[in-house]
Amino acid sequence: MRKHLQRQAPQAATASDKHGLAAGDRGRPDRADWTIDQGWERYTAAEHGVWKTLFERQSRLLPGRACDEFVQGMGELAIDAEHIPDFRRLSDLLMKRTGWQVVAVPGLVPDEVFFEHLARRRFPAGHFIRKPSELDYLEEPDVFHDVFGHVPMLMNPAIADYIQAYGEGGLRAQGLGRLPQLARVYWYTVEFGLLRQREGLRIYGAGIASSATESVFALESASPNRIRFDLERVMRTRYRIDDFQESYFVVDGLEELLELARIDFAPIYERLRSGPEYEPGDVLASDELITRGSGDYHAARAREAADRERSFRS
Ligand SMILES: [Fe+2]
Repeated sequence: MRKHLQRQAPQAATASDKHGLAAGDRGRPDRADWTIDQGWERYTAAEHGVWKTLFERQSRLLPGRACDEFVQGMGELAIDAEHIPDFRRLSDLLMKRTGWQVVAVPGLVPDEVFFEHLARRRFPAGHFIRKPSELDYLEEPDVFHDVFGHVPMLMNPAIADYIQAYGEGGLRAQGLGRLPQLARVYWYTVEFGLLRQREGLRIYGAGIASSATESVFALESASPNRIRFDLERVMRTRYRIDDFQESYFVVDGLEELLELARIDFAPIYERLRSGPEYEPGDVLASDELITRGSGDYHAARAREAADRERSFRS
């Protein structure tokens, strides 16, 4: 099982309140924007091999599960199984299509640095790749999560504009002390979002698309709730950073996200100062449910944890 860190994902995911998380100054590079050279020439054959394993596994899983926009973006990018992509080549293509670039960072970066990059249409991507012994465990977003999961969607104009707007909104939210609420929007869309297409539900969130187990769980398990996306509802809902999500929120089209970028959040932040906060698995009478989850998976996990605790104490 892996931990999610924020700007990343899961089988367990990434942690969102912390894009930059408690990274603190750990691994802080010389440049003020925390970017480093990707050092593509320094990847070893073993590291390219991990990429290949992950790439091939997801490429088998995603047909019929990833949304059309993800598939199209992936098809048009210079990404293949054989090598960890070179960010310079990715950026050339992205720049022509949506004006984005991919920049290398050593891992999680402070929130304000993360938002600044997004606001300038630069996607910070971890330059390292996970160990072969930890294919499904991630402490921080690595190059597979960041590039395979996020970059295909950045080829889509709606997502490209939405993520830039999120960066700008993040800087504002930080000043207002509302970042935890805004981070939930990123979490439940960019990282763990589902999209309703004509043929059924599909994945667009990078946290799901880059995870072999969550790609299946999010769409096919009877356990999680699948709920029509509602902005304020999502902003009041906590999320799991250490396991699969208990609820996924579903949009009907990526343009819906772009509309969020045009909303004035000030009155929403004002309302969020009071009223309820929801747990990840809560279902509300006001929810438009696509699937009501059984909750079996997380209930079993909770029982396992309680058993471990008991045996540890005895
Ligand atoms: Fe991510």
